[in-house]
Amino acid sequence: MKVWSIANQKGGVGKTTTALTLAGLLAKRGKRVILVDIDPHSSMGFSLGIDCDELDYSLYDLFTCPEKFTQRLTKRVIQKTQVENIDLIPSSMALATLDRELGHREGMGLILKKILHGIEDDYDYALVDCSPVLGVLMVNALACSSRIIVPVQSEYLAFKGLERMIKTLLIMQRSNSNHYNYLIVPTMFDRRTKASVQALEQMKVKFESRVWDKVIPIDTKFRDASERNIPLPQFAPRSRGVVAYGLLLDTLISQEASES
Ligand SMILES: Nc1ncnc2c1ncn2[C@@H]1O[C@H](COP(=O)(O)OP(=O)(O)OP(=O)(O)O)[C@@H](O)[C@H]1O
Ligand SMILES: [Mg+2]
Repeated sequence: MKVWSIANQKGGVGKTTTALTLAGLLAKRGKRVILVDIDPHSSMGFSLGIDCDELDYSLYDLFTCPEKFTQRLTKRVIQKTQVENIDLIPSSMALATLDRELGHREGMGLILKKILHGIEDDYDYALVDCSPVLGVLMVNALACSSRIIVPVQSEYLAFKGLERMIKTLLIMQRSNSNHYNYLIVPTMFDRRTKASVQALEQMKVKFESRVWDKVIPIDTKFRDASERNIPLPQFAPRSRGVVAYGLLLDTLISQEASES
């Protein structure tokens, strides 16, 4: 099972949309996907029509239960979605308290890795949708991922946030001697606006080949799909957003193939 995280400390840049759309595309290609929602706001679950406030168990229970119960409990936490080949590990509001409760406990950074290890034969891909908060949850996500996808909204302020996010990645890379392969993905690109075009140029100057050589365009169909509670590839397979994410998925798969 490959584990990819979608992360950026800035909010509203397209993280959840990226995770959902890549999951939808992978599912259509016959891959089994587990989506991991580590955002206490549960946007991923709600986007899939799952009311995370009503569930008996969530990722929070896996973080707080004794390790010997993890594998058994994981099977209970996992929710089927209405999309074939996509399951979900849902979040809950309680996750927001984890930093305070457990943040300093030894081994806290590797819990998600252990959870996913227990189901690695059941799925081809795990996609981890991060919250915009840098804390123990993001540390867990980065520690178990072979690839980090960093969506960045194509505008000036998002670019400032990006510098911070990459610094964070580098600091964490040093502290746990992990090597992160990250790809910066310009999202919500509007080629008619100067701000989008300029932001993209700045990103490419600063981060060079770390920036994906294509862009995800603005597409209002993303909102329509989330209102219908399904990923866009299942809702409007020919939309330009889906075509763009299809190219992104091809890039990610070929990058990973060339590394192994
Ligand atoms: N390419 C796009 N075109 C148009 N709208 C988009 C696009 N990508 C995302 N959106 C919309 O932008 C909003 C924010 O996207 P999303 O929820 O994916 O961001 P996020 O980074 O996960 O936010 P948060 O940090 O709050 O978790 C959503 O309403 C989503 O539908
Ligand atoms: Mg989100």
